Amino acid sequence: MCGIVGYIGEKKCVPILIEGLKRLEYRGYDSAGIGTIEDGECKVYKKTGKVSQLEDKINGREIKTPLGIGHTRWATHGAPTETNAHPHFNGKNSILVIHNGIIENYATLRKALISSGFNFISETDTEVLVHLIDSFKKKGFSLFESVRYALNEVEGTYGIAVISSDEPDKIIVAKKGSPLVIGIGDEENFIASDVSALISYTSQIVYLEDGEIAEVKKDSFCAKTISAVDIEKEIHEVTMSLDEISKGGYPHFMLKEIMEQPESIRNSMRGRLLHKEGTAKLGGLVGFEDRIADSKRIIITACGTSWHAGLVGEYMIEQFTGIPCEVEYASEFRYRNPIIGKDDTILFISQSGETADTLAALKEAKRRGALCLGVVNVVGSSIARESEAGVYIHAGPEIGVASTKAFTSQLIVFALITLLIARKKQLSHVDGKTIIKEIESLPEKIEKILKLNDHIEKIAEEFKDSLNFLYLGRGYNFPVALEGALKLKEISYIHAEGYPAAEMKHGPIALIDKNMPCVFLAPSDSVYEKIISNIEEVKARKGRIIAITSENDDKIDKMVDYTIKIPDTIRMLMPVLSVIPLQLLAYHIAVKKGLNVDQPRNLAKSVTVE
Ligand code: F6R
Repeated sequence: MCGIVGYIGEKKCVPILIEGLKRLEYRGYDSAGIGTIEDGECKVYKKTGKVSQLEDKINGREIKTPLGIGHTRWATHGAPTETNAHPHFNGKNSILVIHNGIIENYATLRKALISSGFNFISETDTEVLVHLIDSFKKKGFSLFESVRYALNEVEGTYGIAVISSDEPDKIIVAKKGSPLVIGIGDEENFIASDVSALISYTSQIVYLEDGEIAEVKKDSFCAKTISAVDIEKEIHEVTMSLDEISKGGYPHFMLKEIMEQPESIRNSMRGRLLHKEGTAKLGGLVGFEDRIADSKRIIITACGTSWHAGLVGEYMIEQFTGIPCEVEYASEFRYRNPIIGKDDTILFISQSGETADTLAALKEAKRRGALCLGVVNVVGSSIARESEAGVYIHAGPEIGVASTKAFTSQLIVFALITLLIARKKQLSHVDGKTIIKEIESLPEKIEKILKLNDHIEKIAEEFKDSLNFLYLGRGYNFPVALEGALKLKEISYIHAEGYPAAEMKHGPIALIDKNMPCVFLAPSDSVYEKIISNIEEVKARKGRIIAITSENDDKIDKMVDYTIKIPDTIRMLMPVLSVIPLQLLAYHIAVKKGLNVDQPRNLAKSVTVE
């Protein structure tokens, strides 16, 4: 995700900005930039790639200025290019803006600004902020007031920092939905999106809240709400170590990413739900909707966790659109002779967008004339570029090798694609609205499940020395059983298998004895009674049982060793909730075994080899 850093004081700003940006590198990014005011003029230095490459570009220049802002960009709107990198500037190059977040009404604002004579050079949503601020400055307002007025016209999320050569003694910062802090020093002040960028300079931190804007000078700061009410801000003493905060205070990236899921799925759905029409809007599929809806068949191709998300997608698509759907391992698809053609739509699912098997399958399917769509997290990645169209999942950078938040975001995107196609076919307006309501309720429900972390940790303690695990689920929860088993085996090295619960009697039941823990996905849905019978079968053979059940279920409590109770939702969305306890269970077991959770042996985050 993007990062922000800024300095105003008496020292040269560039080394401070570069160090701050390096501290933000863990978040993942694809370009970086710095903006300063030198000899009364705004100057911008940008580079795609790493902060060290930006540093090389700037090296050798004598930049003495004590005011500057820096940014690492993780592309959302527009490819990772130097033009799209931040800071963005106005025509006269007198205002510089860096921004984290997404301006949802940027298309409308951009159109209006272009018709008022403003000239855009990038593809980003951020650039509208610069011209909007400029439009108020041209009317005679101060920089602070111009930023404030501009933000009143903006819908979406932002953490921003703005400087201007007309007022070179201040940085204006504001926040809504994207973090922004002010670091207080002695005759110097700092700003950043993340305390980790500042911790080597100051431990005195002011946290801006949503809807607040502040003017930061070298020896003072003042804050207001964006509706101009003065506010007193408290200065906090931060005691965390550098190592801790680079993971946002969590001991591992994996736990941080599990905990981020309420926010990451919000980002996946943001601006994409059309409440009135009861459908979804996916910018990346515009112009392709009818072709997808008219497909004779939809094929989903992926590897690993993304393949599991694809299985859930298959259930959704077949249930709601009536279009036959198949899911295939990319590695198999590419090497057989798949019968595909112009009437097929193929979805390529990948967090990294670089998985070699998925990329090769995409190239083969394209050659055969199918409509090839990417569902990808990393913007500008190979699969995203190679696909004809597609949808970004916007989960933010996933650093832990075991995929967690990308999975739930992939599920959200599948729900949106399903909604979009189904509304073109057989799904009623009322049912479309019900699905939207349920999708929107998910972040809060995940927050509730995350509060069970301590309970799940205790269960992990009990089972950490097991040598095998069985995960069992039915319907939409069968792919979740596969995903739970994969999470456990990849980070704890415990052998684990996922099965459709009813298949147990066709073989795996032979394994069950007092040493075999079975994790049942047993929410109160249409196959609940069947799952109860499967639980009885395991109990009769003395297997130990952990059951994921609905909040209001009191029947299963009496039958099993442990229950983990989660909120209910409609069947198609249940995997978004039921997978969370399984992620936490795998995480805690691996930690208790003393293993390297973020970088398990033999695994890479991006599998670019066959
Ligand atoms: C499991 C995991 C892998 C990936 C797989 C595909 O936690 O991370 O199984 O899901 O390598 O990767 P992407 O989604 O990047 O194509």
